[in-house]
Amino acid sequence: MPSTGADQDRPTALIVGASRGLGHAMAAELLDRGWSVIGTVRDTTTRTPLHDLADRSGGGVSVEHLDINEPDHLAPLHEHLTHRQLDLLFVNAGTTNNEQTPIGAVPTSDFAHVMITNALSPMRVIEALEDLVSPTGLIGAMSSGQGSITNNTTGGREVYRGSKAALNMFMRSFATRQSETQRTFVLLAPGWIRTALGGPDAPFTVEESVPLLVGVLLSKLGIPGLAYLDRSGQTVPW
Ligand SMILES: NC(=O)c1ccc[n+]([C@@H]2O[C@H](COP(=O)([O-])OP(=O)(O)OC[C@H]3O[C@@H](n4cnc5c(N)ncnc54)[C@H](OP(=O)(O)O)[C@@H]3O)[C@@H](O)[C@H]2O)c1
Repeated sequence: MPSTGADQDRPTALIVGASRGLGHAMAAELLDRGWSVIGTVRDTTTRTPLHDLADRSGGGVSVEHLDINEPDHLAPLHEHLTHRQLDLLFVNAGTTNNEQTPIGAVPTSDFAHVMITNALSPMRVIEALEDLVSPTGLIGAMSSGQGSITNNTTGGREVYRGSKAALNMFMRSFATRQSETQRTFVLLAPGWIRTALGGPDAPFTVEESVPLLVGVLLSKLGIPGLAYLDRSGQTVPW
């Protein structure tokens, strides 16, 4: 699967939201697997683990700038990447709020921030950059098992759950609009992982999780259609 990029022998991935946490670890895992990786950070003034990875990568990782909630950032990013063909576009960036707050007590500003960051902005990114993706490439986003309506038997994390369910719905609409395509679309449910967002009580480490997640993504390359998958590659019920 040739890519037009810095190293034409390697497939190319764009990981959006790769400064730290799962996105950074996915960038590192893809580099280890021989990919050329473009990762985005939203803050241009702070050095992040992605910058360290890029420095160590011998040109295998490059860093771009994108705050997914700033639509004006998308055209310059597209312009920078015009000559790259992406085999994988994955939007990892996401956020949460105070997870104990029941939905009726959530401040409107918190609701808007989580919904925009987790549902609207990832789809804006995908729609703005999808023409850079190979006709047989993979477009994905980091969803969550919390986005499954079927599996919600406990409540809690209500805005977060709603935002990931909305992301799933928007991705399904996007994929359905492209029903003739040979591309793959993946919504990942990574499991509860110890990151800044996941918190210290999560059962899984980043180190044990990310090879599984990247393996699931890459196993779907070349298989057209939309899948909502967990860390084992099993389908999550909508
Ligand atoms: N950890 C879990 O248990 C878990 C479970 C299910 C799903 N997820 C999902 O996995 C994804 C990554 O989460 P994580 O656990 O790795 O969390 P994290 O360590 O808090 O990292 C969040 C990442 O998203 C980026 N981000 C947030 N808002 C952004 C924005 N407006 N524009 C650009 N980047 C933005 C952050 O960038 P900055 O460094 O600039 O803040 C950071 O790179 C999220 O979508 C999350 O919902 C996580």
